[in-house]
Amino acid sequence: PVLVVDFGAQYAQLIARRVREAGVYSEIVPHTVSAAEVAAKNPVGIVLSGGPSSVYEPGAPSLDEGILELGVPTFGICYGFQVMAKQLGGEVAHTGLREYGATDATSVVDVPGTLLHGVPTEQNVWMSHGDSVSKAPEGFEVLASTASTPVAAFANAERGLYGVQWHPEVKHSAYGQQVLENFLHRAAGIPADWNSGNVIAEQVDRIRAQVGDAKVICGLSGGVDSAVAAALVHKAVGDQLVCIFVDHGLLRKDERRQVEEDFVASTGVRLVTVDAREQFMSALAGVSDPEQKRKIIGREFIRSFEQAEIDLVKEAQSEGEPIRFLVQGTLYPDVVESGGGSGTANIKSHHNVGGLPEDLQFELVEPLRTLFKDEVRAIGRELGLPEEIVGRQPFPGPGLGIRIVGEVTAERLDLLRDADAIVREELTAAGLDQEIWQCPVVLLADVRSVGVQGDGRTYGHPIVLRPVSSEDAMTADWTRLPYDVLARISNRITNEVKDVNRVVLDVTSKPPGTIEWE
Ligand code: XMP
Repeated sequence: PVLVVDFGAQYAQLIARRVREAGVYSEIVPHTVSAAEVAAKNPVGIVLSGGPSSVYEPGAPSLDEGILELGVPTFGICYGFQVMAKQLGGEVAHTGLREYGATDATSVVDVPGTLLHGVPTEQNVWMSHGDSVSKAPEGFEVLASTASTPVAAFANAERGLYGVQWHPEVKHSAYGQQVLENFLHRAAGIPADWNSGNVIAEQVDRIRAQVGDAKVICGLSGGVDSAVAAALVHKAVGDQLVCIFVDHGLLRKDERRQVEEDFVASTGVRLVTVDAREQFMSALAGVSDPEQKRKIIGREFIRSFEQAEIDLVKEAQSEGEPIRFLVQGTLYPDVVESGGGSGTANIKSHHNVGGLPEDLQFELVEPLRTLFKDEVRAIGRELGLPEEIVGRQPFPGPGLGIRIVGEVTAERLDLLRDADAIVREELTAAGLDQEIWQCPVVLLADVRSVGVQGDGRTYGHPIVLRPVSSEDAMTADWTRLPYDVLARISNRITNEVKDVNRVVLDVTSKPPGTIEWE
């Protein structure tokens, strides 16, 4: 792999994704990694990320000096560039000049075939730094400068060491991806041969090696991750896999059918659907407090899922083949964020209900552990999953239950399902699915307002549209949807959905509003 050394902030994940976009597999390692640990991973290249610190701050993150001596081609970015300069005997100055935002970097020497190959002499780059490299280390050539940064890029081609002060990984750097690819393909000579097809082949081998001919179960949520994980495992071990899907009645229109028909048709997976609609309805009766709803839904979900698990495990045991493996759709950002970048799959001691042994444990099968979301989608497509499943926007586990402000009832769910389906249909028809992160549709069940529909007075409920744009759901802005699309949605909802006589738009960013209303 190419190792991306993480010096903090969010840059490392972005760099890792850009490296993969260049067709090269990458992994993130913490900056505390030792040279021996790096060597053990046999990297073909190393990228040192940016970070929020100053190299001269006490306790500033540093790098094991041996890493730059391994003979592995290395590319330092921003803070990583300065760490490299300082360790190799160059000078980093606290200039007091902060450079932030878009700047022009000028190539001062042209080294064909390496870092700045094929980019214009003047290129617009994205900077964010307080310190600057004031003198390149011995043996390094300065490649570029900006008005306030004399050493904005350097190289020691002989040792395979390169660096830039700017951020090539952000889209604001006009030729950023090209500079990164120059490092990977030209300077380090790494071929672009990592793609969905390889990932699938590799994971299939791994899954087979891990589970052998044992049985495996997988809970489907209707979301992208669990669907792709299940499809991969199914490709590897076929009918040894059984999937469980809990219909809690809080699903959107057509979701159950998508899982039961589209997913099964495209994969051939064995599926057990648990119809828990009545169980959820009665548990939610009379409850309108959001936190209480969430707790009830979570509890009932685990109950029905576990019951299905138990039934399957018992059935398997009676056939003499107990189920030992559980598939989970864990993604790479979860792994990195929980600090387990290099850990391997672990054992989860499983919550236990009813008639199974206390120590029932499942070994986890996590075929998406090394992947980012967009890569999971690409793999899903490659595996032939339908776009309705692969292209799905995020949807909360508690489903429509937290999109009804007020008590959840069967009638209200039907009404919300209809309104939500109209919104999704119109957004898709307008080609807006890529632009929005998600668009919760909320029923204000405890609010009524006066309207006039047909010839008469109505006293109905408002529907709230909550279209948001976001990178990661931690922060979000409301999406400026075209008025004509909003008008169409509003017309259709008020005409087609019984008891709704008003459509309103939520124009709140997050913070202060959360994306969901409850
Ligand atoms: P909030 O409302 O906190 O939502 O801004 C952030 C993102 O998380 C989703 N969300 C959930 N997802 N279980 C989930 O799997 C939940 O309980 C849950 N609550 C919110 C929400 O849709 C948004 O994408």
